[in-house]
Amino acid sequence: MSRRKSLQKTNEPFLRSIRSRPELATSEQFPFNIPAFAQGIDLTLKRKVTFLVGENGSGKSTLLEAVAVLCGFSLQGGTLDHGHAQTGEGSLLAETLRLAWLPKVSSGFFMRAESFFDFASYIDSVGDRSLYGGAAPLLEQSHGESFLSLFQNRWRDGLFILDEPEAALSPQRQLAFLRILYDLERTQRAQFLIATHSPMLLLYPGADVLHLSADGIKRIDPEETEHVRLTRDFLRDPQSYFRALFAEEPEES
Ligand SMILES: Nc1ncnc2c1ncn2[C@@H]1O[C@H](COP(=O)(O)OP(=O)(O)OP(=O)(O)O)[C@@H](O)[C@H]1O
Ligand SMILES: [Mg+2]
Repeated sequence: MSRRKSLQKTNEPFLRSIRSRPELATSEQFPFNIPAFAQGIDLTLKRKVTFLVGENGSGKSTLLEAVAVLCGFSLQGGTLDHGHAQTGEGSLLAETLRLAWLPKVSSGFFMRAESFFDFASYIDSVGDRSLYGGAAPLLEQSHGESFLSLFQNRWRDGLFILDEPEAALSPQRQLAFLRILYDLERTQRAQFLIATHSPMLLLYPGADVLHLSADGIKRIDPEETEHVRLTRDFLRDPQSYFRALFAEEPEES
């Protein structure tokens, strides 16, 4: 069997690892002062779908951005061939990271939650509707519709770096997104690195979940994430949360 065929038969990711050089641990400057990076970054990616999870401010977007820069994606979000940012952007963290690939892929997409609108405007402005299936212009679709439209019609191969894709998606559409993940993962040609706060996404079967905290970046069972546990517990009995949350402080006499 050829090497290429044997690679296609496995479900191993093609971006295999993300590692920092040692100087990372010594700086007190952003982004090196983020507690999750304090002991350096040494991540082995084991699955085609990897989620980054952690509190607000734990460093997920910073890490995604650095990986995206190293891949050559536009920092504003976009594909390699359709990146529309000016050159010269950089990320300090990216300068200290090393990516290991097998094989190196040169297609994919970086989506920052907050810049999706800019990117949709760009695609609409270049007028290439083949990018999203020739449907209505992206800006005439809702946020969630346009996001799914891009995935369903355009992006099949490569590395997809997505920052909080759930921001665009209703719960029903999050399920549709999981189906897309499932289909693309099975083609063996797509890999995903996704920062999320969504319990629905985190529970995707077979995903690897990496938790950023003051203890560094550690693999975690999604069931053990606060996102899943708290949401499950809250939905089981919201009133008990409200009673505790809205309890009046006893007045001092
Ligand atoms: N340009 C910057 N200069 C200084 N500090 C920054 C800068 N950008 C982000 N930070 C800080 O770095 C930390 C990590 O930010 P980051 O955006 O990576 O967090 P996050 O895990 O993506 O959070 P969220 O879940 O809220 O999106 C935060 O404390 C943030 O305030
Ligand atoms: Mg973020």
